[in-house]
Amino acid sequence: MNTSLTRRNWIKKSVLTTGGMLTGLAAANNLFAKPAFGMTPYLGTYELIEDFKIAADQPEIKARLLANENPWGPSKKAIAAIGESASKGNRYVYSSAKEIIEKLAAKEGVTFNNVLISAGSTDLLEKTAFATCMKGGNVVSADPSYMSLVKTATAIGATWKNIPLKKDYSHDLDAMYSAIDSETKLIYICNPNNPTGTLTSIDEIKSFCKKVDSKVPIFIDEAYLELLDNAESQTAVGLINEGYDVIVCRTFSKIHGMAGLRVGYMVAKEERVKMIQSLVRTEMALCVTSVQGALASLGDVAFQDFTRKTNKENREYTFEQLKKLGFSPIPSVTNFILFPIDMPTKELLSKMVDRGVGIRGFEIGGNPYGRVSIGKIDEMKLFIKSLSAIVS
Ligand SMILES: Cc1ncc(COP(=O)(O)O)c(C=O)c1O
Repeated sequence: MNTSLTRRNWIKKSVLTTGGMLTGLAAANNLFAKPAFGMTPYLGTYELIEDFKIAADQPEIKARLLANENPWGPSKKAIAAIGESASKGNRYVYSSAKEIIEKLAAKEGVTFNNVLISAGSTDLLEKTAFATCMKGGNVVSADPSYMSLVKTATAIGATWKNIPLKKDYSHDLDAMYSAIDSETKLIYICNPNNPTGTLTSIDEIKSFCKKVDSKVPIFIDEAYLELLDNAESQTAVGLINEGYDVIVCRTFSKIHGMAGLRVGYMVAKEERVKMIQSLVRTEMALCVTSVQGALASLGDVAFQDFTRKTNKENREYTFEQLKKLGFSPIPSVTNFILFPIDMPTKELLSKMVDRGVGIRGFEIGGNPYGRVSIGKIDEMKLFIKSLSAIVS
């Protein structure tokens, strides 16, 4: 493959994609003013291969800081378990799925019938959107936020009620509550939120869920929660045992460093799990190897602690360096940092790629932002050095 040509394609593609978003949002003038963050259609597989995520696998990308991946994973124990289980690849996943559901149920303090497992949380987000919005209605969620579930819901005919984040970048739960109407089929809360990296107080979320009182299911996406030091005190999972129609979703892509191995799970009321299972078979998306890797990783607490600690150190380093360069990064509790920029996102991204650094760019409320994922310290140093060269 001619890599320089592919890189040019990448830049061209990024320009086109970002430019398209810019046009749609041009009227907006700040993060909170205008809706429609990320309402671009999904890319097909071929387009995706041409897009930045895959192009970033090219050798000239030395720091891949664009998909909020864990640069330290998978854990050595997970890798060993994957190798050992490859010979079981002739068998369907049933008994492995049973084994991991039992472990996850015990970890979350729920029963077997409260857990659904699949190949990453994307599958669970999308299948929940299908299951709840197939007859239309609306979904209420924050703006900007993670868009997987909303994109699927709107693609099958639901509408999106987008509620701007508050000035402190937390969810505006009062406004979300007011937005609920007789047509609301699902509420989506991403906590911590992507792309802002910010946390909404668990006390506020719990009060909100109690106020909604199971009239509408509430999907709480906790993809990044386990990167927090105090994750157990911040999860909404306890609401499920209290009988609320809350769906908590987690992934092995972040803290466990298994994004390419695809394991995610959700915890919900038994009736909700049954309802989704009556339509789709999420566990059939799994492979036995990934499940065995996930089981080993669950037991590798030292690896999770290392990721949490090192991610935090590298995030703090990056945050301070961004400030020194004159940026105003949004304080993050996750493995990425969002920061406003003074140039079109396409320009920053292509200049970064020229220096071997892959990051993301977003137009939010009409303003350009960079989002850098937290990598190894050498990657973060290269990111800062490159950014400094670009802006000075
Ligand atoms: C908030 C959020 N939820 C879900 C996902 C999907 O993760 P996966 O499908 O790898 O589990 C991501 C991916 O970055 C995310 O940021």
